[in-house]
Amino acid sequence: MTDVDREDLLTAIRSAVAAAPAVESAMQQVVRLLKDAVPHYTWVGIYVLEGDELVLGPFVGQPSPHTRIPLGRGICGAAVTEKATIVVDDVNADPRYLACSLDTKSEIVVPIMRGAEVLGEIDIDSDRPAAFGERDRALLEPIAAMLADRFDED
Ligand code: SME
Repeated sequence: MTDVDREDLLTAIRSAVAAAPAVESAMQQVVRLLKDAVPHYTWVGIYVLEGDELVLGPFVGQPSPHTRIPLGRGICGAAVTEKATIVVDDVNADPRYLACSLDTKSEIVVPIMRGAEVLGEIDIDSDRPAAFGERDRALLEPIAAMLADRFDED
């Protein structure tokens, strides 16, 4: 994906998130647009923080066994604790990893933040090893910020 394509995708997602009637539909649009646009995104989902659990919201890809993840578990839980994006090049070498699909090789988790508070996270798996880098972070962190603005309304 070129930088121009990425800018176009960000623009499309910004419009879709702004036009969505509520945060749930905004999240659905985001996972669909990301999955359709980026070939190395095999599974795209959003977890919402409810109390001390991450609850799976909209996703595109195979159903995950991890529909509720307690804080402190998984790479998803670690991203909440660290309040920062986590990139794992080789999920099978990371003891935190909770397996979703045997085909998954790498993962990125981007927290959706309101100030210092974590509201949820964008979680993306790839069947390609070390699929995620700075370009993915530069795409996904602004999208997480757009979603955070919609969470604020509810
Ligand atoms: N791999 C995640 C669990 C979610 S599935 O990938 C959908 C983790 O380790 O937290």
